[in-house]
Amino acid sequence: MTAMIRVPATTANLGAGFDCIGAALSLYNEFTFTPIETQSLVIAVQGLEAAKVHTDDRNLAYQAFLKLYTQIDRVPPVIQLEIKLGVPLARGLGSSATAIVGGLLGANTLAGNPLSPAAVMQLAIEMEGHPDNVVPALIGGCQLAATAANGWAIADIPWHSSIVPVVAIPNFELSTAEARSVLPTEYSRADAIFNTAHLGLMVRGLETGNPDWLSAGLTDRLHQPYRQKLIPGYTDVEQAVIAAGGYGMVISGAGPTLLALATAECAEAVATAMTQAWAKHDIEVSARSLAVDLQGARSC
Ligand code: HSE
Repeated sequence: MTAMIRVPATTANLGAGFDCIGAALSLYNEFTFTPIETQSLVIAVQGLEAAKVHTDDRNLAYQAFLKLYTQIDRVPPVIQLEIKLGVPLARGLGSSATAIVGGLLGANTLAGNPLSPAAVMQLAIEMEGHPDNVVPALIGGCQLAATAANGWAIADIPWHSSIVPVVAIPNFELSTAEARSVLPTEYSRADAIFNTAHLGLMVRGLETGNPDWLSAGLTDRLHQPYRQKLIPGYTDVEQAVIAAGGYGMVISGAGPTLLALATAECAEAVATAMTQAWAKHDIEVSARSLAVDLQGARSC
């Protein structure tokens, strides 16, 4: 038996939704798990930046595979793991989440699905440390995750069909650990109120496509003001997005990818403007419009 799992990229935070909102995007990694008779693990990686991925037991998808077998208290089979990468690494597009979700679902499939989707989600959140990438990677769409009395409350945020996500992916990496290390541990009441209000605006803006709510909702005071200094040219790219007619721009996840929201009519102009603004800082960029993936991880 072979388990082949396709997992979408994700953009976390969407501004004021720091550590609680994320959306699945139409870029994918594929993980194929095949039990083999030999004594040792085989991992083969192809595609985007394949040379940077561990091909031994440090591989994150394999770590997730083992975690699920530990959870169900069974001995994992020796496997061949083939990975096809379409999501750039360490760019704020949830590449780690794809590995965690791929590994857990691959193991659950080979083991005969002993864990429920909710139990797999719980394990994925534990491994990642926050829910905003793994939840949309698992179930697709735009999702809000909050702790609740008996686990996690997951709420689907409708994404208005007029809103196009445009990503500008630069040619440098930024680790989530570094991007989290610059954040304060405490915030003022004014900043907490600001983010609460803007999170509400952003959710309503995504649902309705209201331009004013979207533009305001993309601002936040919990993480972006502190992370901007890690991303050269941030302010120029943001101004270029607005000038090209976009609603606004945020850091995708922990960065350095920048995410603009725009209408279909101006999405291409926004992508071009982002590329040109970053080029002035000698930063090469791959900028493109994507779709929101509504399915999430799936067997294929
Ligand atoms: N919410 C996380 C962060 C996403 O912004 O640090 C990155 O994994």
